[in-house]
Amino acid sequence: MNDALKATGSIRRRLTVQLLSGAAILTIILVFIVRSFSQQLAEQSQDNILNASLTAILDASSIQQGEVTVDIPYSAFSMLSNLSNDRVFYRIDQDGAFLTGYADLPTPKLRAAADTPTFMTGTYQDVEIRMVTATRLLALEGRPIELQASIAQSRNGQAQTLAEISNMVMLFGSGFFVMSAIIALLAAQSTVGPLQRLAASVSRRGPHDLRPVTATVPEEMVPLVQSLNQFIQRLDTSLTRSEDFIAEAAHRVRTPLATVRAQAEITLRRVDKDENRAALKEMIRAIDDSSRAAGQLLDHAMVTFRTDHLERSRIDLAALVRECVDRLQAVAALKDMALTYAEIDTAQISGDAILIQNAVRNLLDNAIKYSPMESHISIELTVEAPWLTLSIYDQGLGFPKTGAERLTERFERGDNVGGIVGSGLGLTIVDEVIHAHGGNLTISNNPNGVGACVSISFPLP
Ligand SMILES: Nc1ncnc2c1ncn2[C@@H]1O[C@H](COP(=O)(O)OP(=O)(O)OP(=O)(O)O)[C@@H](O)[C@H]1O
Ligand SMILES: [Mg+2]
Repeated sequence: MNDALKATGSIRRRLTVQLLSGAAILTIILVFIVRSFSQQLAEQSQDNILNASLTAILDASSIQQGEVTVDIPYSAFSMLSNLSNDRVFYRIDQDGAFLTGYADLPTPKLRAAADTPTFMTGTYQDVEIRMVTATRLLALEGRPIELQASIAQSRNGQAQTLAEISNMVMLFGSGFFVMSAIIALLAAQSTVGPLQRLAASVSRRGPHDLRPVTATVPEEMVPLVQSLNQFIQRLDTSLTRSEDFIAEAAHRVRTPLATVRAQAEITLRRVDKDENRAALKEMIRAIDDSSRAAGQLLDHAMVTFRTDHLERSRIDLAALVRECVDRLQAVAALKDMALTYAEIDTAQISGDAILIQNAVRNLLDNAIKYSPMESHISIELTVEAPWLTLSIYDQGLGFPKTGAERLTERFERGDNVGGIVGSGLGLTIVDEVIHAHGGNLTISNNPNGVGACVSISFPLP
């Protein structure tokens, strides 16, 4: 049946992958946003300081004795110094001609407007720099003089701070991802948990357990469980109906068969001709066969019903077997057979007495049926924890060497039966009864000589 079922992936895996992908995307976005935000902040603060420093320089410029004087204040550079010892460059031009500072410091192509400083990023002396340029107009003897000042700072400190922030963000991001992964795994597990529990509770059931599923399940699974229960209910109804039908049919067949058999026996006594007698004997045998089959079918239907709804009680197996042996003594006596029963004192088990009686009767019936006249059947009860075992040894034909394990299947008979009447249901009944009680049926041949040995073991309570 499993072959017909095709699984399309696993819900747990799918859910875990989806949650993990979501967490990974969120982590990447988070890392990216935090990094670019901190970069912006760092750039902004560097620009602000550069601008303040430039303003201080331009403010310090004046005209003294007919000459432009730029007395760069200490504060203009001190505010730029930081822990990473970034380098600072400056340059001042008067009317487009270099005045002081670093003569080769590149100035912006566009002339900076008086009130708006121009920022640019470039490379100077092999280091990346951020530079701000602004102009100031001074008046010398009624003539305007344009003073352009640029101040630049290398970006090592900023890069270092950014690297630190990046490391920290990566660390937090990884932590966030690991936590999300754990939460994703737990979430996936808790989602499929009820499904697994439902599957386990259904598959733990015995083959005849057709009770409705009552396990509590999440809302989304209620329709599934309802459909399952409806299906179980339909199956139960149809099984019960067919068992009832078999029982009823067997009962209806057996009664007229008994009448026909009685009539055939009476006729047999009256008939002298050999060929007629042979035909009547054949007829009686066929009736016996049918009658036995009807009886066994009836028993089988009863056994199936009772094993489905097994009601256990304390049973003394020793007494139960003794009663069966006593009942069959008369049948054994017809074949001059001796039944000996070695019982033990305590042989308590828990189970359905009617079912176990039926099983024991079938085993004794086989032992008598498949054994020759004047032979001996020995019945033994032994306790070997955790099992209580009933063994029946006979001196008959023994089981066939091959295919003996198939004899517990319905209507299977061995090739050793000859003309012995039977329907092939006895061992099926025994097997079903024993398994419903959690025990085992062992079919073998007597290790110490001829004949069969059949054992049934029950777990001790
Ligand atoms: N004690 C035994 N010795 C030898 N063969 C046996 C013995 N018990 C069972 N068998 C073999 O196992 C087969 C199945 O036994 P089972 O009791 O199921 O059916 P049956 O005896 O043929 O019919 P019935 O349903 O009437 O009992 C028998 O047909 C027979 O071949
Ligand atoms: Mg039998």
